[in-house]
Formats: sequence, structure tokens, C-alpha cells
Amino acid sequence: MLPMESIGIIGFGNMGEAFAAGLKDKFPQTAFAVVEKLPSRVTIAKDRYNALDFTGDWEKFFSHARVVILAVKPQDAESLLREISNYSEGKRFVSIMAGKQISFLQKYLHTPYLSRFMPNLAAMYGKAAIGVAFLEGAAIPSSEMEVFRSECLQIAGAVGKPIQIPERLMPMMTGLSGSGIAFVFQFIHSMALGGVKTGLGYSAALETAVQVVEGAIEVLQRSGESPSTWITRVASPGGTTIEGLQVLEESAFTAAVMQAVEAASRRAEELEGV
Ligand SMILES: NC(=O)c1ccc[n+]([C@@H]2O[C@H](COP(=O)([O-])OP(=O)(O)OC[C@H]3O[C@@H](n4cnc5c(N)ncnc54)[C@H](OP(=O)(O)O)[C@@H]3O)[C@@H](O)[C@H]2O)c1
Repeated sequence: MLPMESIGIIGFGNMGEAFAAGLKDKFPQTAFAVVEKLPSRVTIAKDRYNALDFTGDWEKFFSHARVVILAVKPQDAESLLREISNYSEGKRFVSIMAGKQISFLQKYLHTPYLSRFMPNLAAMYGKAAIGVAFLEGAAIPSSEMEVFRSECLQIAGAVGKPIQIPERLMPMMTGLSGSGIAFVFQFIHSMALGGVKTGLGYSAALETAVQVVEGAIEVLQRSGESPSTWITRVASPGGTTIEGLQVLEESAFTAAVMQAVEAASRRAEELEGV
């Protein structure tokens, strides 16, 4: 369980709120401290999550927050980090800002307690796949690092499934998870269009496609068996499924998806300046 101290959130936008919602749900005792530019978002933080607003008072904010989640847009990162640099000594930070490496945070934040998350949109509903990386070789006792690690994994776990990776693999997590969710949306839309082509209305086809994907996920998770095992079970000899699978492969479906993940990861690397 997280300690009963508060979680600080700087930038209470879509993602900031997703973390507050997940934490409130999993750890109802969590108290929130926020700093947010937009008054309308501050109101939401106060009304929905009982958060204390410390906008304009970094000293009070940092005295309340045990772990601080940096959730502003990447383009606002540098000015924010400059502003909080003087308050950062020994503090614990989680950054969810896309493309901002831990070495960048280290320039401004005077602490070894630095973690970086790459969530995806599904964090809004507690179902994100989240890459989690830590500052490597931090000069602190391993027991303290373990406490920080476990706090971070609990925070990530509140909005989805944490996957601990070395930081150099973050761009790949962006391709597979951050962008990957859009590829899955595209697949579902395409399935629904296929249904329309064969005579179903779009809404019935979409409802069906979503249920098919949900069913496939359930089968994989409950059985623990691989997709290829299930494909060979569904595709009976001379049957309907193998006909469709052949068309997918003639259209280079597998290669196209692999290349999409690779292209998104490459772009993430470019944006990180790797
Ligand atoms: N959305 C996703 O699916 C996703 C996935 C992975 C990672 N991320 C990362 O999550 C972060 C947040 O994304 P988001 O979609 O939640 O963005 P967002 O909705 O724009 O939220 C950011 C909020 O922070 C406020 N803000 C900016 N600078 C601030 C400062 N110095 N102090 C206090 N508040 C400040 C913004 O106000 P103004 O609008 O007035 O500037 C805005 O309300 C980004 O860095 C993004 O890379 C997002």
C-alpha cells in the first residue's frame, strides 16, 4: 500500500486526471496536491478528487507531496523544471512527459529518485500498458531505491499494467503501447468496415468487432496460450478462417503491423534525440 501521504500532480490535464482517478480508485486514502495553470482544471481536481491546490506556492506543494507526477506537455517541460529546480533536492519524481529522458530531468532535478513512465490513452480507464524506467546507477542505498521502485510500480499499477524496462527501450514502448493503441483502433475500424461490406450496418459491425477483440483478449489472458496456438485452433482445414488469413497475408498484414510499430518507435527515437 502507498503511504497515506499525498501524491503531487503538476499539470492536471487528461493524463494528470487519469492518474488521480486510478489512484483514488485503488488507494482511496490517497491525498492529492496539484499545481495547474488552467482554473477550470483546478476546479475539477478539487471537486472530483478533493485535491489541495498549491498553484503559485511551490514550497507548500513540495512539503505536501511525497511523490510528484510531472504531467505537463513536453514543450512545457523545460520551463517547469527550471521553476521547480530549487525545491527538488531529494524529492521523488515520476515523469510521464513523452520524449523527455531521465538525463534531461537530471539537469534540473537534484535527486536520484527519478522515474519515467510511458502510458497510453487507456490510462483513462485503468487499462494502459505502461513502460516504467528508473535512473540507472543512482547513488542511494538499494533498500531506499526498492521503496521508490515499489511506490512507482503501485502508481503505474493504478492506471494499468506496468512493464519495467531499461530507459533505452522507452521509444519502443512508445511505438508498441503509446501509438500501438491507435493501430488497434484502426484494426477494429477495418473489421467493422469489412462487416459493412458484407451487409451489416456500421454500428452493429463495430459492436461485433469490439466484442471480438474483447473476446480474443480474454481467451489469451485466461488460457495463457499464444495467439499462434489459437489461430491454428480456429482455422479448420479447408474452412472459412484460413481463407481470410490467406488474404491478410497476401496483403502483407503481419509485415505492415510490424513496420507500423517499428516506424512509430523510430519516430519516438528521433523525438528523443537518440
Ligand atoms: N495523452 C496521452 O495519451 C499520453 C500518453 C503518453 C504520455 N503522455 C504525456 O502526458 C503528458 C500530459 O499529457 P496530457 O494529454 O494530459 O496533456 P494536457 O491535457 O494538455 O495536460 C497538461 C496540463 O498541464 C498544464 N500545464 C502546463 N504547464 C504547466 C505548469 N508549468 N504548471 C502547471 N500546469 C501546467 C496545461 O495547461 P495549459 O493547457 O494552459 O498549458 C494542461 O492543463 C504529456 O507530457 C504527454 O507527453 C500523454
